[in-house]
Amino acid sequence: MKNYNIFLIGFMGVGKSTVSECLSREYGMEAVEMDEVIAEREGMSIPDIFEERGEEYFRCLETELLIELRSHENAVISCGGGTAMREQNVTEMKKNGKVVLLTASPDTILERVKDSDERPLLNGHKDAGYISRLMEARREKYEAAADIVVSTEKKSASEICRELLNKLQEMDDRKEL
Ligand code: S3P
Repeated sequence: MKNYNIFLIGFMGVGKSTVSECLSREYGMEAVEMDEVIAEREGMSIPDIFEERGEEYFRCLETELLIELRSHENAVISCGGGTAMREQNVTEMKKNGKVVLLTASPDTILERVKDSDERPLLNGHKDAGYISRLMEARREKYEAAADIVVSTEKKSASEICRELLNKLQEMDDRKEL
């Protein structure tokens, strides 16, 4: 039982939702899927929000939701792939949470996203070169935001959760010294 939240950040298709579901199922944490909450509240899919209202509007909804989540604890929050690009969002996450960056290679990501059209930024760009360039452009901000980094490459969700919780525990123990 953590007295803070865990924010999962990282590129599209890196496994944030899968890991969040696993932490909820195996460790009883409250799971919040940011994209799902936003789509439900707006009564529109994420691609429709991008198309009809624009990306900036969507980014503001992400920030508002993070501010709301400050009152939760022991929750795992699966962020959208772009959430950590705004400095204000990272500041909000850090107020009551630890930020976990999940990573995977562009080839692995392509494999995971290729059959979905739910990601407006990748529609029409389903190739490893594009994914790799966007990932590189985002890398610095992802890494600066992260308290810990966990690769999801060739691991089961349970293995990833265990590694993630061990690393967080090590960090909490170090802080207590
Ligand atoms: C985005 C990632 C998506 C979703 C939106 C924008 C991004 O979330 O928030 O399409 O900018 O990387 P996932 O990372 O869950 O696919």
